[in-house]
Amino acid sequence: MKSPLLLTIALCSLLAVAVHAATPAQGQAVPAAGDPSAGAKLVQQNGCEGCHGAGLKGGTVGPRLYGIERKLSPAQIADFIKHPRSPMPDFGFTDAQIADLVAYVSSLDGGANADKPVATFDPATPKDGATITVRFPGTPPKSVVAVPVMQMGKGAMNSDKVVLTPSPSDAHVFTGKLTFGMGGPWIVRLQYDGHTMDIPVTVGS
Ligand code: HEC
Repeated sequence: MKSPLLLTIALCSLLAVAVHAATPAQGQAVPAAGDPSAGAKLVQQNGCEGCHGAGLKGGTVGPRLYGIERKLSPAQIADFIKHPRSPMPDFGFTDAQIADLVAYVSSLDGGANADKPVATFDPATPKDGATITVRFPGTPPKSVVAVPVMQMGKGAMNSDKVVLTPSPSDAHVFTGKLTFGMGGPWIVRLQYDGHTMDIPVTVGS
């Protein structure tokens, strides 16, 4: 162990062995989405914060990972951890562990989904109609339109398109009254400032 580089390599292989020991049973399916709390443990055990700083907000050696999901796709983050550039060591993580790490580092600032609107229906299981309430956590959109759509075989049936109105007391909240022609599985397609979001809703008959 004359050179610090050799010491680093030796430490890394030790870490890699420790990590492998904690690997779940072989042959287990790789989960599509990782578990952020398992990822948090891996970050602690492997000293990521030593380089990437407390809370992964950036250190003297490693860049800020906090908010990384706004910059890189999950596949790009996974690829970097799998094929790191020096001085970041290759920890030899399994794909499942990498998925956990990606889930964790992507969730630090609330995740990319933090900006997604949340819709609720009143009544929760509508019959002929319902009031939809949509909350936009980020900047409120300029206009919001809701179109109830029912898939029918190859075609689709649209109910009347409704322009939602902002709440007088909260600019982030939009409401409107929707009508459904019949019971069954519907989708309410929200269009706001060039975005589209489909919300499934079951309509009772
Ligand atoms: C020895 C210091 C060191 C350790 C320990 C370390 N990293 Fe890194 N990491 C770096 C450096 C330096 C870079 C930037 C490399 C580059 O871009 O050339 C980096 C880059 C990254 C990136 C890509 C960031 C981007 O914006 O492109 C991810 C993701 C990452 N590290 C995750 C981790 C995780 C997770 C751990 C713990 C399991 C970890 N790192 C441990 C030094 C380290």
